Parts: sequence; C-alpha cells; structure tokens
Amino acid sequence: MVVKYLLFFSLCLFVRCTMSNKTEDIIEKTKQLAPRLTNDKHKGQAGRIGVFGGSIEFTGAPYFASISSLKVGADLVYLFTNKEPATVIKSYSPELMVLPILNDPEAIKKIEPWLERLHVVVIGPGLGRNDQTFEVITKVIETCRQKQKPLVIDADGLFLIAQRHDLIKNYPAPVVLTPNVMEFNRLVGDTPGDGSKQEKAAAFLMEVGSNVTLLCKDHEDEIISRGTTVKVSGGGSGRRCGGQGDILAGSLSTFLAWSIMADYAPNVACYAACRMVRDLNSKAFVKYGRSMTATDMIPEIHEVFEENFERK
Ligand SMILES: *[C@@H]1O[C@H](CO)[C@@H](O)[C@H](O)[C@H]1NC(C)=O
Ligand SMILES: *[C@@H]1O[C@H](CO)[C@@H](O)[C@H](O)[C@H]1NC(C)=O
Repeated sequence: MVVKYLLFFSLCLFVRCTMSNKTEDIIEKTKQLAPRLTNDKHKGQAGRIGVFGGSIEFTGAPYFASISSLKVGADLVYLFTNKEPATVIKSYSPELMVLPILNDPEAIKKIEPWLERLHVVVIGPGLGRNDQTFEVITKVIETCRQKQKPLVIDADGLFLIAQRHDLIKNYPAPVVLTPNVMEFNRLVGDTPGDGSKQEKAAAFLMEVGSNVTLLCKDHEDEIISRGTTVKVSGGGSGRRCGGQGDILAGSLSTFLAWSIMADYAPNVACYAACRMVRDLNSKAFVKYGRSMTATDMIPEIHEVFEENFERK
C-alpha cells in the first residue's frame, strides 16, 4: 500500500517536473540568485563590476548603469571613462569609482590590472562612436577574452560589435548583448535567414557561438540563447524615458555575476534584469506619471528587489 502511494506520488512529481515550463524554472532561479547577506563575507564577494562608457556628450548613461549595478547589490563598481566626462560623473555620486583613463595614451596598460579583479564587464553606456574610443574598447574586449571575463554589451558597444562579430565569436565566457529593435537589426544585418526575428537570431547565434545570449528589448522582451527563447512581459507603462536601457545593463551586470557564481545559465540573470526594469518603470509611473524619468526609477530598486528576488 505504502509502496503504491510512493509510486503514485513520485509519478505525480515526475509529471509536474516535466510539465513545469522553462519560464517558471527560470523565475524560480531568479529567487535563489542573490548571495546571502552574512557577516563573514568580505567586500567585493557580492560582485565587482566594471563599466566602460561615458563621453563628453553622454554622462547620464554610464551613471545610470553603474548606480543600478550598485543598488541591485554589487559591492564595487568601477567606471572607466574619458577625462572630460569623469569629473561630471563623479559629481553625481560619491559611490562610484570613476577612472578617467579611457583616452589615456597608455589606456590599455592602465586598464589591464583593474580587469583582473572584475566579475563582469559592461561595455557601451554613453560610450560614443569615436574611432579612437572604439580602438581602445577593441583592445579591452580582446584582453577580457584572454582573462575570460563575462561581458554585457549595450548601446554604442553594440554598434562596434555589429561591425566586428569576430570580437565575441567563440568567446570563452558568457556574453549578453542587449539590443533594442534597431540595434538588433544592425547587429544581425547581413546574417542569412528567412527574415523572421527568430531565424535571424538563430543564425547570428550559430555564427558567434554558444556563449552569447541576446536580450532583445521590446514591448515584450525576448531572451534568446541557443535552443531557448524566454519572453518577459508585464510591468512597464506608457512612459518610456531615456536611461532605462542603462538601468537594465547595470542591473544585468550584477545579476550575471551572481548567476555565474550560482552556476545558472545567463538567461536567469537576463530574466531578473528585465523584471527589475519593468517593475521599476511601473512603480515610478504610479508616483510621477508623465513626468517620470530614469532618476525616479532608481529609488524603487529596493522595493522591486524585495518583492521579486530577496531571499525569504
Ligand atoms: C509558463 O510560465 C509562465 C510563468 O508562470 C506563464 O506566464 C506562461 O504562460 C507559461 N507558459 C506555458 C506555455 O505554460
Ligand atoms: C563558454 O564559456 C565557458 C565558461 O563559462 C567555457 O568553459 C567554455 O569553454 C566556453 N565555450 C566556448 C565555445 O568557448
């Protein structure tokens, strides 16, 4: 009798497990991502992130990416930028370590020792498309490859990758690309395929290798890795202000560092980051409506985190 019950029970469990869908599994894992807050950890263990971005034109984007990474829970964020925007960005926040070495004649030599310490490197927020900057960033990516550093590439970083797929081809660690619709089309541009988004994404991923994940930002976000597509919807509002992409890239960098520590696939981190930005948007919208800006989303990080990702 007992044996029969046990058999029945394990059968039910088996059916439930095989029926539970991929998205549910991923959501479950996002709740296990955050490292426990205990006293025996030393500073840096919950994530050391490097952000490469900022230019004389764009000082907001690298700020939003970096502060989001910190507020989501990384211990340390180093922002690598040019000399001109550095003082401006420093003045936004005493929490960020801003290193004005990106346009230094010896940039890569000065950057390399810092890379060693980082768990994840974000490339692109407000970077600009200057040839000289791209030269340095190319070397940064090549050095990251040697050191097997996981990458998040966004914005102007994607502009570079669109011309240089080889930079991420067969990359030896996780790479997440976060294109919007326009950036996606530029990225996969001359990739063969029947023209559908899925086909183009699949052909692109086939070309660059299995460690690359596409996080396609749209009304419904799509996280595409080889063999798996996961959609994220809900949250958000009719208000789409600038800076949300930067908040996504920054949040993602922390979640990605944790997903690697937990041995989870990068799409768990991607899902968490999409959920974060969507819920930040809807919460801030309730308070500020049409006048909501990216700055209003940052203070909501704590509550969204508590509701979705805090260990209970
Ligand atoms: C999978 O789970 C998610 C989250 O619970 C749900 O929104 C979605 O509809 C489910 N999909 C299928 C095919 O059951
Ligand atoms: C993908 O990354 C893992 C580390 O996350 C590495 O062990 C593996 O060799 C990489 N794959 C390729 C094709 O480089």
